[in-house]
Amino acid sequence: MNIAEILGIKYPVIQGGMARIARGKLAAAVSNAGGLGLVGTGGFTVDEFKKELEIADQNIEEGKFYGINIVLMEADIEEKIQIAIEKKIKVVTIAAGNPAPFVQRFKDAGVYVICVVGNSKMAQKCETLGADAVVIEGLEAGGHLSKATTMGSLLPVVKSVSIPVISAGGYGHGSQILAAQVMGAAGVQLGSRWLAADETPVPDSFKEAIVNAKEYETDITGEAQGHPLRQVSNHMTKEYLRLTKEGAPHEEIRKVYKGSLEKAVNDGDVDNGSLMAGITIGLVNQRESVAQIMETLIEEYKEAKKELEAQKDFLF
Ligand SMILES: Cc1cc2nc3c(=O)[nH]c(=O)nc-3n(C[C@H](O)[C@H](O)[C@H](O)COP(=O)(O)O)c2cc1C
Repeated sequence: MNIAEILGIKYPVIQGGMARIARGKLAAAVSNAGGLGLVGTGGFTVDEFKKELEIADQNIEEGKFYGINIVLMEADIEEKIQIAIEKKIKVVTIAAGNPAPFVQRFKDAGVYVICVVGNSKMAQKCETLGADAVVIEGLEAGGHLSKATTMGSLLPVVKSVSIPVISAGGYGHGSQILAAQVMGAAGVQLGSRWLAADETPVPDSFKEAIVNAKEYETDITGEAQGHPLRQVSNHMTKEYLRLTKEGAPHEEIRKVYKGSLEKAVNDGDVDNGSLMAGITIGLVNQRESVAQIMETLIEEYKEAKKELEAQKDFLF
C-alpha cells in the first residue's frame, strides 16, 4: 500500500518539514491539495509553533489533516512534543537525532510515526523501534544532507525493511515520482519544490532566487563542522567555501554564516542569507500556488506513465 492509502489522503506526496518555513498556511495548503502538509518545529519557539498549528487549523478544509515534523536536536523539543500529542496530531516525522526515546511515546498516543533516515542501517533501527514508515533522504535534498544520492539509497532501504519507505531529495517533476514508485517507494517527500509557492512564507526575493537558479547553482557548506547543508549558491556560501579552503579560523568563518537563516527567511537577503534548497530548484521555473504545483505533478506523472507504456522496452 502506498502512504496515501495508508493515511487516507489523495496523493502520496508529503511536504517535508522546513526550518522556519514549514508554517501552518503552507501545511494546510498541501493537505488541502490532496497531499500531507507538515508544520515543522524547526527554528520556531514554542509559542511560534503553537501559533502555526492554530493557523493550520484555521486554513485546513473539513475532513483533511496535517502532520508535524519534529527536529530532535532542539532544546525545547520536549514541550513541542507534548503540545503535538495533546493536539492529537495524526502523523509525525522525526528527524535530526536519535528517535529511540520518542517512537513508542508517539505510537502510544495513536500517532503514525515516520522516521527520517539517511541510510538502510538507520532505517532498520527505526523499524526495530516500531516506526510505521521511514523517509530516506538523498543528498540532492535542500537543507541537511545524508551521504548517498536519492537513487542510490532508495533501493537498499526498500530491500532492508518491510515498513513503507518514502523517498526524498530531488523530486520536482511527476516523472521522478513515477520512477520512485517503480523503485519501491510508498510515497515521496518534497521540500524545495514548494519554496516559490504562493503560500510559502519567505520574501519575494527568496522566491525569485529559487525560480532563477539552475540545478547546478547550489553549494554545500558545513562539511568541515560535520553538518553539511545544501543551499542556493550566493555571496555567503562562496565566502564560506573560500575561507574554509584557506584554512581560516572557525571564528572568522562563523561570522559569515551566523544568523544567515534569519537573513534569508525574515529579511529576504539573498546575498548573505542561507537559502536552503536542493537541486530541484532547476525545475522550479515560476511562482504558483500549492494547488497548481500539485496539479502539475499529477499531469507530469500521468504523461510519463503514458509515454513509458508507449515506449519500446530497454532491456528485452
Ligand atoms: C529550506 C529547507 C529546510 C529544511 N528543514 C528541515 C527540517 O526542519 N526538518 C526536516 O526533517 N527536514 C528539513 N528539510 C528537508 C525537507 O523536509 C525534505 O526532506 C527535503 O527538502 C527533500 O528534498 P528536496 O529539497 O530535494 O525536495 C529542509 C529542506 C529545506 C529545503
